[in-house]
Amino acid sequence: MALSVLFMIAIFSCLHVTQGVPIYWVSLDANTSKLVYKPTNAGDTIMDFSSVGYLGRDAKLPEVPVKVVLYPARNCKDTNKSDGESIQHAINELSSLPLDPCTGFRGAIQLSSGNFDVRGHHFTINTSGILITGSSSSETILHANVSIAEDGMDVHALFSVESPQQTITEVGHRAAIVETVPSGSNYVKLDSSCGFKPGDLVSIVWPMTSRWIQMMNMSERWGNFAVTSIERRVSRVNGEKNMVFLDIPVPFRVDLRYLSSSQPAYLVKVEISGRVSHVGLENFKAVQDKVLPVGRGTFLNIAQVEDSWVRNVVAVDFGGDTMTVTGKRITVEGLNLIRTIPGPMKGPKFADLAIAFPGSQILVKNSVIQGGSSQFSYMTRDQANGPNVFFNSTAYGSSHAEPHAHFATGILYDSMKFENGTISLRNRPYKHHGYTSGFSVVWNCHTKVLEVVKPPQAANWAIGNTIQSLGSTGNETLGFIEPRGIESPRLASLYLAQKAAAKMH
Ligand SMILES: *[C@@H]1O[C@H](CO)[C@@H](O)[C@H](O)[C@H]1NC(C)=O
Ligand SMILES: *[C@@H]1O[C@H](CO)[C@@H](O)[C@H](O)[C@H]1NC(C)=O
Ligand SMILES: *[C@@H]1O[C@H](CO)[C@@H](O)[C@H](O)[C@H]1NC(C)=O
Ligand SMILES: *[C@@H]1O[C@H](CO)[C@@H](O)[C@H](O)[C@H]1NC(C)=O
Ligand SMILES: *[C@@H]1O[C@H](CO)[C@@H](O)[C@H](O)[C@H]1NC(C)=O
Ligand SMILES: *[C@@H]1O[C@H](CO)[C@@H](O)[C@H](O)[C@H]1NC(C)=O
Ligand SMILES: *[C@@H]1O[C@H](CO)[C@@H](O)[C@H](O)[C@H]1NC(C)=O
Ligand SMILES: *[C@@H]1O[C@H](CO)[C@@H](O)[C@H](O)[C@H]1NC(C)=O
Repeated sequence: MALSVLFMIAIFSCLHVTQGVPIYWVSLDANTSKLVYKPTNAGDTIMDFSSVGYLGRDAKLPEVPVKVVLYPARNCKDTNKSDGESIQHAINELSSLPLDPCTGFRGAIQLSSGNFDVRGHHFTINTSGILITGSSSSETILHANVSIAEDGMDVHALFSVESPQQTITEVGHRAAIVETVPSGSNYVKLDSSCGFKPGDLVSIVWPMTSRWIQMMNMSERWGNFAVTSIERRVSRVNGEKNMVFLDIPVPFRVDLRYLSSSQPAYLVKVEISGRVSHVGLENFKAVQDKVLPVGRGTFLNIAQVEDSWVRNVVAVDFGGDTMTVTGKRITVEGLNLIRTIPGPMKGPKFADLAIAFPGSQILVKNSVIQGGSSQFSYMTRDQANGPNVFFNSTAYGSSHAEPHAHFATGILYDSMKFENGTISLRNRPYKHHGYTSGFSVVWNCHTKVLEVVKPPQAANWAIGNTIQSLGSTGNETLGFIEPRGIESPRLASLYLAQKAAAKMH
């Protein structure tokens, strides 16, 4: 087996050499173990997705010293506090402890095994360095009844992890980008690289002008102007050529033909304060009361938080968008979202798991969504810009895994399984959402239906997937769909191959 693999790689490597141009969108250079990317005619390549997850490399999740152990109140004679009060109290106590500068943590709240009655409560974590951990997702069970707020406006989440005091300030000048940046590029060329140095936190701001919006046929949504941005760190500066290199590639194409000198795309140094990090939720099950009337609350909202995780958590029968993540460098692992009762028959459909703007470097892996028929399963929203990765996860039922609205970029669906579902990267003009995604990749997934279109001036790739049918995409141009585009078994997972390559170099 190993021999034949090597043999295949050798043959394909020869092909690369003799033809001069790679034949695969992503291939492996057998000599250097580097990945080689084939650009589109427009110069865009599949981006490097390896920087997702905790600490930007799906790092091993740490052991956090336990500071508080909680048992269900009904097991304790020495407390009058309800379980909900105890948990919020423990969160508040822990929040006032000092942060260990070495680990980044204050400590962990250990929930014993047993049934915790948290009806009438929802919890907020808004300081860094807190882990809530149960015994396991079958032994520690939270019984919840989170509902929509009294005024009917806010949807409560059982857990909110947030950065209420975050500020992002531009510090320094806005340096105009003076050369088209293809998707996948790891540098930008500026009018002046003066003032930028390695390690700087920067924002790349891309104005989507009326010409671009019209070309993308998205003016019903955006009118004449929209803007999107990404955060990066400077890795290197070439002052002579005014080139600033970035730690992570750009997930979209900054095309100078659609920009004017009065409204350029630019790079600017930023300072961020008050962003919460190092929060973990793991090893418990949360069950939402089945008999709740209308207005079921959601399970988890992670907003503007970085280097955090959710691991081995089961959430049953929550409503709305069960879980939304907008932070950075977050690992979601072993998540199981279950519906035993149908969602609302009328009104908007819900997303069981959504990454929304400015969610980036988020990794969802080894997870399951079940019972969510005609819902959206693994989803992105609101111009979320990658890299974001959905890896090795499953949805049962007929749900759609899809970027949903407003041109989210740099998403990888890798080794996902949707026996009766759909993976869809398409145009939704009838909902005024427009093209839902650009520069995204569906890699070696199993799905009943696959829909992948190529927006104007953008690309989407579907490579090596096992499908029953291609969905109808009307008169849209199809994306780059290659049923057999995986060069070698070592590329069975693009994400793992990119991770391995990143480790070596
Ligand atoms: C790999 O190394 C061999 C031996 O040095 C060389 O002949 C070949 O051209 C190299 N292949 C590539 C793709 O660089
Ligand atoms: C619990 O409440 C009862 C009645 O108010 C009181 O007598 C008792 O001291 C309380 N126990 C604790 C541990 O606070
Ligand atoms: C949720 O539980 C609390 C505490 O048991 C109760 O007071 C409240 O009425 C419940 N809410 C709903 C909507 O069932
Ligand atoms: C942080 O959360 C606590 C509840 O855990 C709340 O009392 C406090 O007001 C919040 N702080 C901010 C700044 O929102
Ligand atoms: C462009 O938008 C119009 C109005 O929403 C729609 O009728 C038309 O089908 C769209 N064209 C494409 C190619 O999506
Ligand atoms: C994929 O997920 C399954 C189920 O969680 C797990 O057993 C398996 O190890 C995962 N595979 C990889 C390559 O992570
Ligand atoms: C897919 O649908 C078929 C037919 O309804 C059903 O038998 C099968 O269990 C479903 N599989 C999954 C994984 O949902
Ligand atoms: C695509 O089809 C729609 C109607 O189905 C039509 O309105 C639109 O003009 C077509 N667009 C192109 C580019 O052909």
